Amino acid sequence: MWPLKINNTHMKLRVDLKAASKNEWIKAVMADLNAFLQDHANCERKASAMAMSFVAKFPDRLEILPELINIGIEELEHFKQVYGIMQKRGILLTKEIGPDQYMNQLIEKCRSGLQERFMDRLLLASLVETRGAERFRLVYEAVEEGELKEFYHNLWASEARHGEVFIKMALNYFDESAVLIRMEELNNLEAEIIEGLPIKAALH
Ligand SMILES: [Fe+2]
Ligand SMILES: [Fe+2]
Repeated sequence: MWPLKINNTHMKLRVDLKAASKNEWIKAVMADLNAFLQDHANCERKASAMAMSFVAKFPDRLEILPELINIGIEELEHFKQVYGIMQKRGILLTKEIGPDQYMNQLIEKCRSGLQERFMDRLLLASLVETRGAERFRLVYEAVEEGELKEFYHNLWASEARHGEVFIKMALNYFDESAVLIRMEELNNLEAEIIEGLPIKAALH
């Protein structure tokens, strides 16, 4: 049986990222919004698949299944919305070229023990959601056009909430202090990784 603890935490669930996105990043996005939308659509599709892969890997973790399924649906809904915007603009979905450097480097940082890996994957998911929220906020602030502006405002809120939900999930199984310590480590690693990526019109 998995250890289960009562989750009555008062821990702050909103993560403060260690590295703010650079001004060059939003400039690159605004210079090629079409390419950004293409990448964004792929990210939403992958976020949905990631939530559902948690469901597939951990079917016995009943405490978190409903939220995982909700997130899987919400991310797919985001994908549909991005694709809707792309259709209106006559932009096509793209096949991904090359590996996802950001996710691959993050996953490399996950520890290998069963429990440790489970914790790391949840905390990484929280960081990725929080980074998404941070960057959607920048897009929201930069775009002029009404529909797109509102869309990114909503996404900023939605991904920020997902960031909190993944930490809450971890707190079902791990002590607050262990979660805080590991989150601090992963948060620093995420900052190094995001700062090492080339700047382009893509979410990461
Ligand atoms: Fe999303
Ligand atoms: Fe999300």
